[in-house]
Amino acid sequence: LASIDVDISGIEPGTQLTVKWLGKPVFIRRRTADEIEAARAVALSDLPDTGAENNNLGPEADAEDQNRTLDEDGEWLVMIGVCTHLGCVPLGDAGDFGGWFCPCHGSHYDTAGRIRKGPAPRNMLVPVSQFTSEDVLKLG
Ligand code: FES
Repeated sequence: LASIDVDISGIEPGTQLTVKWLGKPVFIRRRTADEIEAARAVALSDLPDTGAENNNLGPEADAEDQNRTLDEDGEWLVMIGVCTHLGCVPLGDAGDFGGWFCPCHGSHYDTAGRIRKGPAPRNMLVPVSQFTSEDVLKLG
């Protein structure tokens, strides 16, 4: 089956659940107000990859924070947890931008999963996903 349902009811703000989907880790992050604020304060011109990299949106969508999350408030960030450089799994709550850090060759991602520093060329990918109820996230 290509799609799966994930129970997100136990995810507290500031934590992330990692599930496996189609053989890859998926990060489901419930962001804190500070993380949202930090991500929304970033200018597009400071981003190496200005594309949303969000499969729920068209290819023309830019990488502003609102185009990275599933809900309007920006609490829920869902991404394929694979570094866009050579495919390692980045570590959460790490790196110079308070998001993720890939230890393989030193790529730093911000709290919206956007690449900010290091060799990775693109923001981490937001897969096709949606809430089907308050507690259930459907991937695929
Ligand atoms: Fe992540 Fe190279 S695979 S920096």
